[in-house]
Amino acid sequence: MYTINHLKEIKKNKQKFAVLTVYDASFAKLLYNQGINVMLVGDSLGMVVQGHNSTLSVTIHDIIYHVRCVKNGAPNCLLLADLPFMSYNNNEQALNNSIKLMRTGANVIKLEIINQWSLDIVNYLTNYSIPICGHIGLTPQYVNFLGGYKTQGIHENDANKLLNYAMFLEQSGVVMLLLEHIPELLAKKITEKLKIPVIGIGAGIYTDGQILVLQDMLGITSNIPVFAKNYLNNHINLAISNYIKEVESGIFPKNKN
Ligand code: KIV
Repeated sequence: MYTINHLKEIKKNKQKFAVLTVYDASFAKLLYNQGINVMLVGDSLGMVVQGHNSTLSVTIHDIIYHVRCVKNGAPNCLLLADLPFMSYNNNEQALNNSIKLMRTGANVIKLEIINQWSLDIVNYLTNYSIPICGHIGLTPQYVNFLGGYKTQGIHENDANKLLNYAMFLEQSGVVMLLLEHIPELLAKKITEKLKIPVIGIGAGIYTDGQILVLQDMLGITSNIPVFAKNYLNNHINLAISNYIKEVESGIFPKNKN
């Protein structure tokens, strides 16, 4: 069973770790067998699985469903799960939804931090020893408030605010932090200041871990963010077009199929 202590050890030894999002049992098993020990059922599923143009429509029931699928495929991974948009409006709701996710198999609850209200919610959850991953920087659930999917923490005031959030979160007892789409040197400063493991996406090379959305790194989403990388080079497209060709030309199926 992979735990947060493995990640603390990796940070202590100045090593790096890779994390991916995943939404189904087959991919979870495949990722685990390839050495991905930390996985996220994130609300990006609203975009890459459900086809919406934001994460706002995702519900706690959607996350629960996918946590169950992933945990079935990779029971020993360290599984992070998102509290989706407005599923942590107040302390009790946040606690109840975190409990639901943990009872389904999530090991760490991730939530997006936008202001003092969300910091207070985190504080409340950590008092109950809920293992929390704070998500700061670009927080897609608040895309309308932020005015788009833009880099955060560019101006000195905003950078200081994010640094203060990071330190507040560590003091509150969160077990890890995720930085999205912030300048590399700010991510470096935060990563070096904190003892807890820090994961980055679009936050440069210095964070302890990196995360990508699986569909982005497989190149099968239509709008791949600039900070992602396509590792697959259209092999899925090729497999599907080969299947069509073989069916149409009578090559597939053979008797054994
Ligand atoms: O929901 C998600 O996939 C995320 C990643 C962008 C880190 O939060």
